[in-house]
Amino acid sequence: MFLVKALRQAFAAVARRPMPDQSFLTQLLKCDPNSVSFTPAGQPEFTSPDTLSLLKTAAHHLCEQHHTVVFPTETVYGLGAVATNAEASAKIFSTKGRPPDNPLIVHVSSSTMLESLLPPDYAFSKAYRALMKHFWPGPLTLLFPRNPDVIPTIITAGQPSVAIRMPSHPVARALIAVANAPLAAPSANTSGKPSPTKAEHVLKDLNGKVPIIIDGGPCGVGLESTVVDGLHADGNIRILRPGGITVEQIESVLKEEFLEEESIPRVLVHRRDYQDEKMEAAPTTPGMKYTHYSPSVPVTLLATVSSSPAGQSSQSMSAYLSRLSFASAIPPRIGVLAPSDSQVWSLLDQIKGAEWHRYLMGPVAEPSLSAQRLFDGLLSLEAEGVDFILVEEIAETHEGLAVMNRVRKAAGSTEWLHY
Ligand code: TXA
Ligand code: MG
Repeated sequence: MFLVKALRQAFAAVARRPMPDQSFLTQLLKCDPNSVSFTPAGQPEFTSPDTLSLLKTAAHHLCEQHHTVVFPTETVYGLGAVATNAEASAKIFSTKGRPPDNPLIVHVSSSTMLESLLPPDYAFSKAYRALMKHFWPGPLTLLFPRNPDVIPTIITAGQPSVAIRMPSHPVARALIAVANAPLAAPSANTSGKPSPTKAEHVLKDLNGKVPIIIDGGPCGVGLESTVVDGLHADGNIRILRPGGITVEQIESVLKEEFLEEESIPRVLVHRRDYQDEKMEAAPTTPGMKYTHYSPSVPVTLLATVSSSPAGQSSQSMSAYLSRLSFASAIPPRIGVLAPSDSQVWSLLDQIKGAEWHRYLMGPVAEPSLSAQRLFDGLLSLEAEGVDFILVEEIAETHEGLAVMNRVRKAAGSTEWLHY
C-alpha cells in the first residue's frame, strides 16, 4: 500500500517537472520586424524574402510537425503551438512544466480568424467592440465564450471561456497569418520564472526543448497583456491581470465610446476592487495558485511608496542597507532594481560592505519604461550571480499597476522603508 502511494507521488513529481517531448538542436533565427506590414484586412506583406521563408519554416514546424515554436510579441516572447490541435498544445505544457489547470491565451492575426473561433451565434458587446477598436492589435486579452467544436479543453483548462488576443508585433502577427492558424502561447519560460523579453533569455532557459526561437529583438512592452473578463451580466469590465494596456486607458476609451445617457461599464481590478474566491481556487489567472516571475535567487520588495501595515513601523533605507551589507563575513552580492532617479543609488555609493549590482528601471515618471525593463532586470541580475535581489516599489498607477503586480508575485518578502 505504502509502495503504491510512494510510486504515485514520485510519478506526480516527475509529471510536474519540465519534460520535453523530444530534444532539438534549437535554431535561433533573426527576423526583422520592419520587413513586415499588414493590409487593412490583416494580410501580411513582406519586403524581405528571408522573412517570409523563415516564417514558412516556423509554420511548417507548427502545422505539419505539431511542434512548439518561440516567437516575439510586443509583450514578452511566446511559446506557440496550433491552438485548435490538442496534441500540439499539450507540448506547451510539457515544455514549460506548466500545471494543466492554467489556461492558455489564443493569438489571432485577423478579425476573420477571431470569428472562426467563436460560437456561431455570438455577438460582441459594445464594450468589447470599443476595446478591440482601440487596443487591437495590441497587449489586451479578452475572454470569450468557448466554442467546444473548435477550442480543445486543454486550452481553457475546462473553463467555459477562452482568452484571445491579437498581438501587434509584426513578426507574431505574420507568423499566425502565414501558418493560417490561431496560436496558443504562454510566455516562453519554464513555469514560475520571469517571462522572457529577449531571445537570449529564452535560449538560456529552453535551449534543446524547442526547434526554433525567432529572434525579433527586445519586446517593447515588456510585461504580459492585460486580461479582461467582460462576460458578466452586469456589463462591467473585470481586469483579471493588469498588463500592457492600463486601467486608465481602458476607462478613457469606454468613456469616449459610450454616450452620456448610456451607463458606462465600470472597470474593476481583481484584488483591488473585488475578490473572487472561486476564481482564486481555480487558478484562471496568473499567480493565484502557483509561484510566478521568480528568479532562482530570493527577491525582496522595498516598499517606499505604500504605508506599512498597522502596527508595523518603517525603518530607514540606509540603516536597512547597511545592516544587509555587513550581515556576513564575505561581502554579499546584492542586485538592486530601482527607478533611475531613486535616492537609493547615492546611498549605495556610500555603503561599502556589499558588492552592489545596479539595474536602472527608468524615471519614476515613466512607468512604461519600468514595465519594459522589469523582467530583463530580474534575469540580468540573476545572470550576474547576485545572492539576492532588492526591488524598489513604484506607484500603482498606469503601467505601475502591472509592474507592482509582477513584483509582488516575484518577491518572497517585503520591507517597509523610508529615506
Ligand atoms: O502577453 C501575453 O499575454 C503573453 C504573450 C505570449 O502573448 N502570454 C501570456 O500567457 O502571458 P500566460 O500563459 O503566461 O498567461 C495567460 C494567463 C493565464 O495564466 C490564465 O490565467 C489567463 O491568462 N487565462 C487564460 N485563459 C483564461 C480563461 N479562460 N479565463 C481566465 N483566465 C484565463
Ligand atoms: Mg507566463
